Amino acid sequence: MPPRLAPNPVPKIGASDFLRDLDLTNEELVYLLELADDVKQFPREYERALAGKSVALLFEKPSLRTRLTFELAAKQLGGDSVFTEGPIGGREPLKDVARNVDRWVSSIVARVFSQDTAEELARWSSVPVINALSDLYHPCQALADVQTIRERFGAREKVKLAFIGDGNNVAHSLMITAVRLGMDFALGCPQGFLPNPEIVAQTEGLAAVSGAALQITHQPAEALAGAHAVYTDVWTSMGQEREAARRKRAFQPFQVNDTLFALARPDAIFMHCLPARRGEEVTDPVMESERSAVFDQAENRLHAQKALLLMMLA
Ligand code: CP
Ligand code: NVA
Repeated sequence: MPPRLAPNPVPKIGASDFLRDLDLTNEELVYLLELADDVKQFPREYERALAGKSVALLFEKPSLRTRLTFELAAKQLGGDSVFTEGPIGGREPLKDVARNVDRWVSSIVARVFSQDTAEELARWSSVPVINALSDLYHPCQALADVQTIRERFGAREKVKLAFIGDGNNVAHSLMITAVRLGMDFALGCPQGFLPNPEIVAQTEGLAAVSGAALQITHQPAEALAGAHAVYTDVWTSMGQEREAARRKRAFQPFQVNDTLFALARPDAIFMHCLPARRGEEVTDPVMESERSAVFDQAENRLHAQKALLLMMLA
């Protein structure tokens, strides 16, 4: 158990927004994870930390976990939240939306189709903007995921994380965040579904510093060999629905079923950001197995986002 952080003042992050994983420095990331553990264990220590503060959630896409955990995080820290769903900048220019909302709240949490929308909101908003998922990143998810891995395997253990599936927003944030913490990261994806090359190049740079291994392969078995955690996500992300049939065909050999899961370490955990499509990227027995950590990940969304709000707004 790390030493208690409370009641020390929480340090503010240097960046004004959290639009991408790299808006946190390595030191800030490690502090945030320790704070998330502390908040999880001692929630009452923080229950007035955001008194008088409020958060606006502007969501262009549906959400269960992200919406509820941000709303609860704000409330449980003594603050408040409001929510809208629909296109940001549909009824009026985005720059006007930003300059209305920033007069009412302390932060904007935005779930957007395009990363550009989040960046543009941040350009016009005088209050911090947090990316609650875009086409490129899902940085809040990655925070909860690495918190979960550290809980299971310890912060110092050398772990290998295998992501089997689409080189998508979740994979991007996870590879950056895991590799910075020194975790080995392997991605197994079909031809044509590689992660963004700029993000891969950036992650290679981070791996060179942390000493982590980064492997990208079209052979799921290669990615899974020696893995402590096996992660997958939907084959068709929100906004890609027209490609669903083509994706279903391409991703079939990448389904995380008992056979594939058995290629990882015998004590490997299964991870998924959720929502899952049982029978597609994962089978029901793997989702329901004792080694499934998916609901711990979901729980940790709350704690990790509380830590993030504390470091941005307290
Ligand atoms: N994992 C995740 O972001 O879930 P929601 O889409 O339900 O928010
Ligand atoms: N990759 C998925 C994640 C959902 C939480 C999507 O973008 O739809």
